[in-house]
Amino acid sequence: MEENVCQEITKEGNPMKYKCVIVTERGGPEVLHVIENDLHAPSAGKVRVRILAAPVCGPDVSARYGHTPFAPKTPFVPGYAVVGIVDAVGERVTRTAVGDRVAALTVSGGYAEYILLDEDHLIPVPSTLDPADVATIILNYLVAYQILHRKAQVRAGDKVLVIGASGGVGTAFLQLARLANLTVYGLASKSKHGVLTDLDAIPIDYYTQDFVKVIKEAEPDGLDAVFDGMGGTYLARGFSLLKHGGTWVAYGNPLSFSRLMRLLGQVFLLNVLPNGKSVKLYGTGAFRFRKRPFLEDWATLFELLEEGKISPIILRRFPILEAAKANELLESGTVVGNIVLLAPELLKNHG
Ligand SMILES: NC(=O)c1ccc[n+]([C@@H]2O[C@H](COP(=O)([O-])OP(=O)(O)OC[C@H]3O[C@@H](n4cnc5c(N)ncnc54)[C@H](OP(=O)(O)O)[C@@H]3O)[C@@H](O)[C@H]2O)c1
Repeated sequence: MEENVCQEITKEGNPMKYKCVIVTERGGPEVLHVIENDLHAPSAGKVRVRILAAPVCGPDVSARYGHTPFAPKTPFVPGYAVVGIVDAVGERVTRTAVGDRVAALTVSGGYAEYILLDEDHLIPVPSTLDPADVATIILNYLVAYQILHRKAQVRAGDKVLVIGASGGVGTAFLQLARLANLTVYGLASKSKHGVLTDLDAIPIDYYTQDFVKVIKEAEPDGLDAVFDGMGGTYLARGFSLLKHGGTWVAYGNPLSFSRLMRLLGQVFLLNVLPNGKSVKLYGTGAFRFRKRPFLEDWATLFELLEEGKISPIILRRFPILEAAKANELLESGTVVGNIVLLAPELLKNHG
């Protein structure tokens, strides 16, 4: 949000307002509060987007608690991604017009009715697609797709393990891995195994089963890849499951700066030792420096969505301003798939 741009004024001469949800201090969902702000016109190179949908995801929770080395300072508006309609454009905006359907990887700012964004950061979105589905594509499916196809470069017949298989990113992995004809093992709580078997994955209850033993018995030659969203805590065990030429990819943020440093050290060591396996780290931050692969992958995912080849699992939809309730649900540990915040007009058909 910007403070140094013109404020919008109503016909009656009053400042126009919008609402957003801010994190006032580190803590649980109770630190999320709705506030009202002045609505500003976009400055040069920026567009204003009326938000239709925003995912509620693991990184929002880590940012709120400060359980990541790169947590924003409080107060801040969480919301890692948005889908919306451009409702005003600033000077020197040339490729975007009012009424365009767009999305963005915002990292923060998505729990709001409006957001100001750089034109350069926009992702074009087909207006035929459901904004709730698109909200899951912008982060969760992108992460799973890029890890499978750009980091691990999987091939049909590969055998992989997904750690955290029942969540937002996890279920995206399962759908995309099925499309790629992979054999998938997934770690998940017992109560969530149904979704894994529905998506043709082999579930392992990591609370009661030794997953290393189970997989070593089933796949004595080892796995082609392991995908770990838990901040590196599974590194030693996951690495031991890889076959020669296998890849371990970590995409979860470590809890703190010191843990990040430790992880980087481990990754360096494992990659220089002559073990025939590789360790890779994945983060969406690369979008800032190289946009093309991201734009290509979002376009591919939109096509898969349009063709019905992927179908995001959305457990619950909440009004944007009820983000606190949505976060409470995500933290309850009962969620399978995704939670999405929606503009009120999109909630009519969903109770
Ligand atoms: N690098 C990036 O750009 C990026 C982007 C998005 C997400 N992420 C990271 O990816 C991770 C998942 O995000 P998400 O949005 O998918 O979260 P989510 O929807 O909350 O899902 C996480 C799942 O992990 C499982 N889990 C929790 N603790 C676990 C543990 N100790 N061992 C194994 N599984 C565990 C839970 O299911 P069960 O009940 O089955 O255990 C939960 O469903 C987070 O760490 C997040 O920060 C990174």
